[in-house]
Formats: sequence, C-alpha cells, structure tokens
Amino acid sequence: MNDNRKKLQKLFELVEKKEITDTSFKDTFGFEPLVVTKATVHKESDWPVNMHGFIPAVDPNYILPEEATSILVYGIETGQFVNIVGPTGSGKSTLVEQVCAHLKRPFVRFNGRGDMETSSLLGQLTVEGGATVWRDGVFTEAVKSGAVVLFDEYTATPPEINMSLQWLREHGGKLLLTDKPGDNQDRLIVPHEQFRLVCADNTRGLGDNSDQFAGTNIQNSASLNRFDITIEHNYMNPKIEAGIITKKHPELKDGAEYMIKLATLIRNGYGKSEISVTLSPRNLLSWAKKAKDWGDMEKSFVFTYYNMLPSDQERSAVKGFYKTVFSKNLEV
Ligand SMILES: Nc1ncnc2c1ncn2[C@@H]1O[C@H](COP(=O)(O)OP(=O)(O)OP(=O)(O)O)[C@@H](O)[C@H]1O
Ligand SMILES: [Mg+2]
Repeated sequence: MNDNRKKLQKLFELVEKKEITDTSFKDTFGFEPLVVTKATVHKESDWPVNMHGFIPAVDPNYILPEEATSILVYGIETGQFVNIVGPTGSGKSTLVEQVCAHLKRPFVRFNGRGDMETSSLLGQLTVEGGATVWRDGVFTEAVKSGAVVLFDEYTATPPEINMSLQWLREHGGKLLLTDKPGDNQDRLIVPHEQFRLVCADNTRGLGDNSDQFAGTNIQNSASLNRFDITIEHNYMNPKIEAGIITKKHPELKDGAEYMIKLATLIRNGYGKSEISVTLSPRNLLSWAKKAKDWGDMEKSFVFTYYNMLPSDQERSAVKGFYKTVFSKNLEV
C-alpha cells in the first residue's frame, strides 16, 4: 500500500473512532466543514526556503464558499487529485489560493497554454558560464518542494503535453524527467509528501459545446480519469455575492444588490446564448470600484461591461435589463 493510501486509511480509522474533531477546521476557516476533514495549519519552517515566498497572504475580503472550501481542504489533507470546474470569474483560482493562505501552504499557479512545451513545465538544458546544465521547470521545483500546484485552465494545454504528468497523477506516482541527461536515477523525481496538484478549468476537459471558451482542448480520457474529486464551482448565491462587493466597497450599500440583479439577468441571457459576454464576480468587483471612485453607477457600468458587447441587438437587450433593474435608461 503506498503512503497516500496508508494516510487515507488512517484518516478514515480516526474518523470512525471519532478521534478527529472538526475543531481545527472551524478555528481556521470560521465554519464547520460540510464533510469530515481536518485542517492542518502549517508553519513557514515546514517548507524549504525557496517556497516561503509562495505562501499566499489571507485576503480579508475573500468570503470562503463553505462547500467548495470543505471539499478542497479534504482533498488537500488526504492527497487526492482535485479538479474545479466552473464559469469564468466565479472564484476557482482564488479559492485554491485562499485555502493555501489559511493552511500556510506554498501555492504555485501556472496557466495551461496552447504552445506549452514539456520543457517549460518540467525543465530544460541551459548554457551557463559555457557549461550545459539542467534547470528544473517551475512545476518540477514545486513537486520537489511540497507546494500546492494549481494547474489553471489546464485544458488549454494540448492533451499530449498533459500526458507527461500521467504517472505523477497516480497515488504514489513519480515524475520522470525524460529529457534530463544522466541515468534514470537522475531523472526520477519522488514528489515531496505534501505536494498536491489541483486543476481548474471552465470546461470538463471534454471540449466546449458552447463556443465560449476558445482554445480549450479535449483531454485524453485517461487524464480525466485521474481526478479523485471534481468540484463544481458556480456563481455564489446573490446575497453572498452582494456581501463580497459591500465587504470590499461598503460605500455602495444597497447599490450592490441592484448590481447583482443586473448580473443575474445578463447571466441568464448568456446561458440562453442571447448575450455573448457574461458578467462575472470579477467584473462586478471591477464595476464596483469604478462606481465608488467616480460616484457614477451608469458610466462605470458602460466602461466595465457594456462596451464589450459586440452587437446592437445585444446592447439593446442589456439596456432593457438595465432599465428593469435601475428604473432608468442607460444613456449611451
Ligand atoms: N468568494 C469570494 N470572495 C471575494 N472575492 C471573490 C470571491 N470569489 C471570487 N472573487 C473575486 O472574483 C475575482 C475572480 O476570481 P477568480 O480569478 O478566482 O475566478 P476564476 O473562476 O478562476 O476565473 P477564470 O475562469 O476566468 O480563471 C477574484 O479576483 C476575486 O477578487
Ligand atoms: Mg482562474
């Protein structure tokens, strides 16, 4: 039985014996977890020095979504492979970063790209002072140092490149740097016991039927089969979303609620393919900042969102939504 399986079995035994309580989780995250899990808060000295700068700061304005946080913490605690799927700007990347901030784990994020080569991921030979030396890529460094790696928008990377991680993405798996000179011993990387890999994407790795996420690739089913947990992370309920805005921009008061109402109408239109640009929490926060800075809800909406709309038909639909919510014509 490999180490991860042993740890998992031990965890279940402890849970059965009721030796694990949720106290550590509640102390750290401020609410009871929605699944049985513990939450180990590390010390900076638990990590190699090269990883200290990668431990994120807690964002006091970030509101932890309870279910997704509970499941992600469980996945990280027990060394499972977690995949987070959801619409753009819904908070997938920030969730992983903020969970790491609370658990004081180094967090390394890199984005999948269509032109990504295994060398940029795993490492390559470089010439230094006349000598040819091997330099680990950021991914390899993170694997060795026990970081939580967020492979963001991983479906942008061609499936054959992602396949280079297949062995690593198995419990007890290893990383083999096939391009590194030397013997197999030099090429074999045994992951740090705290190394974790989390993937996040707008699609489920099976392509994009909506044509909304250009550049995504259908992934090999053996790659997708390696996820232990898939979290669906959608937009939060309107009250929580309004809370996110007012926590950061308290001056907006009730304005936040109207903004969410408009966002909901736009998202519904987007869902029905009547509107081609969505209004995500990211856009809402950006709109809120300008609304506060300029003291002008309408102008800030136009420059944040409205000007992105590609056709008169969509602009007229959004003007209608704006009038419904704010009882006022959008003057553009
Ligand atoms: N729960 C939250 N509390 C506070 N702010 C949030 C929350 N969720 C999202 N945000 C804000 O929304 C912005 C977008 O979040 P993030 O980049 O994590 O989304 P994403 O789902 O990863 O988007 P994409 O699919 O485009 O990569 C963040 O910068 C953050 O400020
Ligand atoms: Mg993201």
